[in-house]
Amino acid sequence: MPGRRSFPDARPSPGVPATSALRAPEVAVAIATVSLVTSALADLPLLASGKVREMYDLGDRLLMVASDRISTYDVVHPNGIPDKGKVLTGLSVFWFAKTGHIVPNHFLSATDGVPDEVRGRAIVARKLRMLPVECVVRGYITGSGWKDYQATGKVSGIELPPGLQESERLPTPIFTPSTKAETGHDEAIDFEQAAELVGDRDLATRLRDVSIALYRFAHEHARERGVILADTKFEFGLDDDGRLVLGDEVLTPDSSRFWPADTYAPGRSQPSFDKQYVRDWASQTGWDKTPPAPEIPAEIVEGTRQRYIEAYERITGEPFSAWLARTGG
Ligand SMILES: Nc1ncnc2c1ncn2[C@@H]1O[C@H](COP(=O)(O)OP(=O)(O)OP(=O)(O)O)[C@@H](O)[C@H]1O
Ligand SMILES: [Mg+2]
Repeated sequence: MPGRRSFPDARPSPGVPATSALRAPEVAVAIATVSLVTSALADLPLLASGKVREMYDLGDRLLMVASDRISTYDVVHPNGIPDKGKVLTGLSVFWFAKTGHIVPNHFLSATDGVPDEVRGRAIVARKLRMLPVECVVRGYITGSGWKDYQATGKVSGIELPPGLQESERLPTPIFTPSTKAETGHDEAIDFEQAAELVGDRDLATRLRDVSIALYRFAHEHARERGVILADTKFEFGLDDDGRLVLGDEVLTPDSSRFWPADTYAPGRSQPSFDKQYVRDWASQTGWDKTPPAPEIPAEIVEGTRQRYIEAYERITGEPFSAWLARTGG
């Protein structure tokens, strides 16, 4: 999972116009088929650049811009997935609106204060002091959790029932935090280590309870729309008054595993609406998972784009074009 770092690998792939070119009306038709690999808003101070997002300073607020960059195994590929950043932002905004009763979040607007050239992929958000743990919740046993379970019978120090099959639903969702590595891969930790990292046991307990409540709510919503939310990751911060606030992206295909419910069956890995499709392609190329990552071929780019858009449409119940129309994206 993610680590904060500067962004040396991002560069527009050949034929991808720079941000300024996207403003020109004559390239409007091309926008859906090209990806925005780096956003460059010359007028605003750049605070940070992660694997996917640029954060710009708006004084007491932030402009958070999701690019079309995609990483697998924590390495960013040279070319992006057209519209991916807009899907991530649209889905996050959908969930921010739905989950405010569980915990306050950093979302302020997807239009007011958002420059034209990044409409649809950007939000204005509250600045937070981010907590140094990634709050992972798992409702099904898969991925690294499945590996840990097979080796030890436990995940994140939590003893699980014997005899679980790959992708099986857990008796109850579990909190399996990880570090937020500055570089390289995040490391799985247990609850006690998470409490140490945030320096406050009560706060860690709150993180766990809120994360599980968010997962339960989102799992139920997605399930009604034919999607299984297998697991997900949240990031929280504290506001100026020390209140816990949900930040970053939420319940997107980059931060979650989404499986189609109609084909779900335990005992094997599942097809998904997330990065697994690109990961599968990447691992069969023979790439050793160290930088530089290979260029993603056109048919994998298009297949990935379709999956991201399908995730948006299934979960929100509206066409992706409705999000673009609402935000001028
Ligand atoms: N409201 C907020 N205030 C301050 N920082 C935020 C806020 N919301 C999210 N962030 C941080 O902004 C960054 C988002 O960028 P991006 O998702 O591209 O990073 P990343 O490569 O995934 O790295 P990270 O492991 O730090 O998430 C993250 O570091 C995240 O913790
Ligand atoms: Mg991130």
